Amino acid sequence: MDKTITVALGQRSYDVRVGAGVLSELGRTITELGEVSSVVVISDTTVGQLHGPRVMQLLGSAGLTVGSLSFPAGEASKTLATYGELMDDLFSLSPAIDRQSVIVALGGGVTGDLAGFVAATALRGMRWVQCPTTLLADVDASVGGKTAVDHPTGKNLIGAFYQPKAVLIDVETLTSLPREQLSSGLAECVKHGVIRDAGLLAFISENADDILACGSDTMIELIARNVAIKAAVVSADERESDQRAHLNFGHTIGHAIEVLVGYDAIPHGRAVSLGMVAACRMAVERKLLPAADADPITAVLERLGLPVTCDALGPDDIWRIMQHDKKTRAGKVRMVLPSKVGHVEIYDDITARDVRSSLRALLP
Ligand SMILES: NC(=O)c1ccc[n+]([C@@H]2O[C@H](COP(=O)([O-])OP(=O)(O)OC[C@H]3O[C@@H](n4cnc5c(N)ncnc54)[C@H](O)[C@@H]3O)[C@@H](O)[C@H]2O)c1
Ligand SMILES: [Zn+2]
Repeated sequence: MDKTITVALGQRSYDVRVGAGVLSELGRTITELGEVSSVVVISDTTVGQLHGPRVMQLLGSAGLTVGSLSFPAGEASKTLATYGELMDDLFSLSPAIDRQSVIVALGGGVTGDLAGFVAATALRGMRWVQCPTTLLADVDASVGGKTAVDHPTGKNLIGAFYQPKAVLIDVETLTSLPREQLSSGLAECVKHGVIRDAGLLAFISENADDILACGSDTMIELIARNVAIKAAVVSADERESDQRAHLNFGHTIGHAIEVLVGYDAIPHGRAVSLGMVAACRMAVERKLLPAADADPITAVLERLGLPVTCDALGPDDIWRIMQHDKKTRAGKVRMVLPSKVGHVEIYDDITARDVRSSLRALLP
């Protein structure tokens, strides 16, 4: 039942393996990279405690010299300060790392972004393998090679595009994941369905109970389909331009909501869910999307326990934040809107009025 998806990027192509127990392949995956002097596993403290010992043991029994580094769990660690501490720890390891060493990022999207940025920059670039452990990291952050830390001015402002050599997604790690963390990943799954694949949306809707219970076969299928969509988008368009921008569906208003209420006050998936509902409403009002096509999108979000309504949000504040988004071009607010489930286009003529009326649709 294991699945392999290739992220096709010429010489930088790599495979994403999805399955139950695929972490047991980590030693072989690394030895197959060529000469390897040592392996450094980077994880946050939570994941390090839950899954670190098994990974260290697997690598050790593959005959690899292994070290491990950790940092406190949470987005607050995605900073230059933590990056600096990880670099200090990395260069203090004994035996010392060299360009034949390999970094393993074991954890959610924060670990992937942070450890990936360490890999991109230490010794001017080290090979790295990603082992995501949250659904968000499985279906989104582990594909595409975006690595970054946050800056007080905004999220992900310092980073690099730097592809891993391999990604191993072991669905068994999801069994320890708190339910609210699962919903962040589910919002991205719905997003992928809306932008590229009506069949995926139907699959999510039909298997919602099994997905919420993290049934192994269903999760493998769900993750593999999502990885394939993100991989196709990224392969077509590695650096941010039109195709990759489709991945921002639900994120323009969603991001503004996060900024307005505070990143700590609303989980990313919940903000994106509201952003997708608002974008669908905007598409209906612009007569791009039949209302009957918007309903199943809202229904599947609700079925997954994601919010589709919220109390009044200051529309003028949301609009102001949208105008300052780093993805704004030449002062024009751009939004990704669907014309049917599975197809979206970018519009750069979004007005304050569009935003105000789509936000009204979120009122309970
Ligand atoms: N690089 C990209 O393309 C990309 C895409 C989307 C998001 N991101 C980034 O990803 C980050 C969010 O990722 P996230 O939601 O995975 O956050 P996260 O890495 O902080 O993980 C969320 C929480 O779950 C815990 N956790 C992780 N795996 C677990 C497991 N198996 N069992 C129990 N607990 C576990 C973590 O310790 C953490 O407390 C953001 O910083 C975002 O910017 C990056
Ligand atoms: Zn997102």
